[in-house]
Amino acid sequence: MERKTLLPSKKLVNKVAVITGGARGIGAAAATLFAQNGAHVVIADILDDLGAALAESIEGRYVHCDVSKEADVESAIELALRWKGQLDIMFNNAGISGPSGSITSLDMGKVQQLLSVNIFGYLHGIKYAAAAMIKTRTNGSIICTSSSAAIMGGLGGHAYTLSKEAINGLVRSAACELGVHGIRVNSISPHGVPTEILVTAYRELLRKEDMQAEDVSKIVGETGSLLRGRCATVKDVAEAALFLASEDSGFITAHNLVLDGGYTSATSTLSFIYQSTNRE
Ligand SMILES: NC(=O)c1ccc[n+]([C@@H]2O[C@H](COP(=O)([O-])OP(=O)(O)OC[C@H]3O[C@@H](n4cnc5c(N)ncnc54)[C@H](O)[C@@H]3O)[C@@H](O)[C@H]2O)c1
Repeated sequence: MERKTLLPSKKLVNKVAVITGGARGIGAAAATLFAQNGAHVVIADILDDLGAALAESIEGRYVHCDVSKEADVESAIELALRWKGQLDIMFNNAGISGPSGSITSLDMGKVQQLLSVNIFGYLHGIKYAAAAMIKTRTNGSIICTSSSAAIMGGLGGHAYTLSKEAINGLVRSAACELGVHGIRVNSISPHGVPTEILVTAYRELLRKEDMQAEDVSKIVGETGSLLRGRCATVKDVAEAALFLASEDSGFITAHNLVLDGGYTSATSTLSFIYQSTNRE
């Protein structure tokens, strides 16, 4: 009998996606995975060279888009509509880490700047994506990158934590309104992915300029995950975004999908004892 090789089926054939912060890190991994799954991807970012090169390699489009500027986000959505006539997936992912340090000496100018990207950027994305999806009667999926910092204190600066918690509220609120149009709104909360944002934070925190992604990976794998030695990769997060973007998650909305290797659910004395007594 002839043996047939089973190829994994593509999950986003002819879907149109806009990904903010898609030039590198989690967004870039999602752009690549979405394209491999048959999607037409618009990368919206401020890193023009990186973003344009990636867009070319996946036969997508790049648009310079500072998500803190409402008109930029509107233009990114318009580009998708002009290009393919529809918008199926909006991945609000662009983010910055903002000021660190004591709450007693927070630089409020930097806080404003962070909120304009991490909260207003997402609000702009949901606003224009929802309007486009409603207009074209698309059962779309809106995904927002939140963070483990929205679940547990001490995993990010105060302003960053505030912004990520706000995103979860916004997701629930938008899901509540948009469900009648068949539009789903969900968030992803990654933890400890060794991308630029996290490596830079570790360099500042530990005052080690030469720290690399592998060093951060090792620290998170050892101390920030119940799955000892394993931290999240950009591919892990991209796969979660693919799930929420595709019909595989068709009945899931207003949900926060946490990718933290169990860290925020079971960081307890007991988990510490298990981890330390079971070391080889
Ligand atoms: N890396 C982690 O451990 C982690 C954990 C939880 C949440 N997150 C979130 O994941 C998202 C992606 O971050 P990453 O880890 O890939 O880091 P990253 O720094 O590699 O990527 C962030 C991307 O956002 C873009 N960006 C920043 N400001 C922008 C703006 N004003 N307009 C448009 N684009 C802008 C950057 O140019 C970059 O491409 C962020 O929202 C971050 O807060 C990351």
